[in-house]
Amino acid sequence: MLLQFKILRFDPEADKESYYRTYSVEARPEERILDCLNRIKWEQDGTLAYRMSCAHGVCGSDGMRINGVCALACQKLVKDYAGAEEITLEPLPFFQVRKDLIVDMDDFLARVRSMQPFLIRNDAPPEKETLQSPEDHRKVEDAIRCILCACCTSACPVMAQNPDYVGPAALVWAYRYLYDSRDDRFSERLEKLNEPNSVWPCANHFECTRVCPKSIPVTKSINFMKREIKKRLPPAGE
Ligand code: SF4
Ligand code: SF4
Ligand code: FES
Repeated sequence: MLLQFKILRFDPEADKESYYRTYSVEARPEERILDCLNRIKWEQDGTLAYRMSCAHGVCGSDGMRINGVCALACQKLVKDYAGAEEITLEPLPFFQVRKDLIVDMDDFLARVRSMQPFLIRNDAPPEKETLQSPEDHRKVEDAIRCILCACCTSACPVMAQNPDYVGPAALVWAYRYLYDSRDDRFSERLEKLNEPNSVWPCANHFECTRVCPKSIPVTKSINFMKREIKKRLPPAGE
């Protein structure tokens, strides 16, 4: 079938404003949106810029807005948009555009890093890996699936009103280490989560959960941490 792809283009070195350019692509229903993008770049317009690597939902690099919804181009198929007259591709909202569909991830990754996304132990590092029981692993196994695609953070309506909100992806990483049985910083991590722009701005819109390509229960995790804070601390930013 012949499909129309309307792509938001912007080259900061050449353009004053972003603009849409439309490309016609012959594609089969079971092909991925990423396959179509590659065909556009390889056969029609080598100047088109986007990120991709694994093409299998693992690296998290091809997050973008597809017909208004944040998603991975390698996980969405042409048949997912059956009936649409055209498929619109735009960079992730709230992120600064570097070129076309490539956004600046530095601030997003800094927010994740602010949650200290690594194990902190009181004792010396063990000679072998620290083992974890299956029960303990189950507490964090959803959050471990995060591939840092940023779809959740760019879909969150609160980010538009409060750019200081740390955002759902950082909170997924906070959850992952807060409840990791091998970590020794539970109290400090909880104090950090009680800061005004940490868990509290979340208004339960569930957009993050809806768009997460790894089916992580993002909103549920945030609410779980809110309840944990309420049990143990005077809530600072509610
Ligand atoms: S549930 Fe919270 S983090 Fe997720 S989209 Fe809504 S406000 Fe944002
Ligand atoms: S929580 Fe989901 S949507 Fe958010 S960055 Fe991780 S994988 Fe992407
Ligand atoms: S290209 Fe790696 S997740 Fe899509």
